[in-house]
Amino acid sequence: MTIVGVPTEVKKDEYRVGLRPVGAEMLINNGHAVLMQAGAGLGSGYEDSLYEAIGAKIVPTAEEAWGASDMIVKVKEPQPQEVALIRDGQTVFTYFHFAADRELTLGCLERGCISVAYETLTDDHGHLPLLTPMSEIAGKLSVQEGAKYLERPQGGRGILLGGVPGVEVGKVLVLGGGVVGTCAATVATGMGADVVMMDISIDRMRRLDEFMPSNCKTIYSDPEAIRDHLAWADLVVGAVLIPGAKAPNLVSHEDLTHMKPGSVIVDVAIDQGGCVETAKVTTHSEPIYTVDGVVHYCVGNMPGAVARTSTQALTNATMPWVLKLASSSAIKLAKHDHHFANAINTHRGTLTNQPVAEAHDLPFEAIAT
Ligand SMILES: NC(=O)c1ccc[n+]([C@@H]2O[C@H](COP(=O)([O-])OP(=O)(O)OC[C@H]3O[C@@H](n4cnc5c(N)ncnc54)[C@H](O)[C@@H]3O)[C@@H](O)[C@H]2O)c1
Repeated sequence: MTIVGVPTEVKKDEYRVGLRPVGAEMLINNGHAVLMQAGAGLGSGYEDSLYEAIGAKIVPTAEEAWGASDMIVKVKEPQPQEVALIRDGQTVFTYFHFAADRELTLGCLERGCISVAYETLTDDHGHLPLLTPMSEIAGKLSVQEGAKYLERPQGGRGILLGGVPGVEVGKVLVLGGGVVGTCAATVATGMGADVVMMDISIDRMRRLDEFMPSNCKTIYSDPEAIRDHLAWADLVVGAVLIPGAKAPNLVSHEDLTHMKPGSVIVDVAIDQGGCVETAKVTTHSEPIYTVDGVVHYCVGNMPGAVARTSTQALTNATMPWVLKLASSSAIKLAKHDHHFANAINTHRGTLTNQPVAEAHDLPFEAIAT
């Protein structure tokens, strides 16, 4: 029997939870015990009583949730006060983003936990299946937020993206045609806007041309095309990614002068540094600011705004692994599945993820499988 602990998220503006009541039910039916910190599910609309009804134990503090569990399931990277609660040999299954946080990396190595990172689990298609659902949400949300901030009272130029008969529709430029970009373009075209998607992968654009509707065009991403389309667009969505690297800077401060006053930039890539020079990370409490008349929305954890949808999407993807981890061990799973082995970033004081080791110039040791 494994005791699975679920703490309440403590990062600012984070309302997701690592386990839904149905997930707790599945664990309990498989012979495990679940310790929920009181209020952990509230931000996503799951009250303690729903967990209690299926046999989970509610504990009042984070100390108890972390202290009495063999395995922790959560959402965001452990915050410093959480790192202090990690027990030697405890399995922690969550997003870590170690490459961006040396202090967290050293903390987890020192605490001796087994850090199983959502963001480095891979699949046979070369995708990151526990990251994709959050990109899908951020992509869809980017146009919803962009449409809101195009409204005049919000500081925008007063544009209805879908237009009405006799009036031009709104124009949306999407930089990057991957998961985020495709979801953004799907929503924008569905609203009736004219959409241009830019990418540097011709294969990807070939594929997009096959399935996107006729109000979506693809154009190769180069500085001239970007400049031309910045002048054209009402809404710009930054959705580029170079895996493992900082996002490329595609829109300079000077480029803003080509844009219409009151147009909006939603830089989804802000979690990788942003693809717009003037982008700086914002929060759900204060999501926007304006530079040279252009509204910037640069929230680093966009899925947190739609916590219930995000919790459902995340746990749909994580739950099979939560069950496997509770019924086995990270090392045993890694022996049979190299994709799972990729998710183990630290193991009892050893750094087992090469890019993280390189990012912090720390010694790397491959996971022993
Ligand atoms: N802010 C948030 O809350 C949030 C949430 C989820 C994802 N993200 C971020 O969104 C970004 C996109 O994620 P994704 O899942 O869509 O990645 P992805 O790998 O699916 O797609 C990225 C695309 O960018 C393209 N690209 C690379 N360089 C380019 C360039 N110079 N011009 C145009 N296109 C270029 C790639 O060819 C690829 O098609 C990432 O930085 C990711 O971390 C942010």
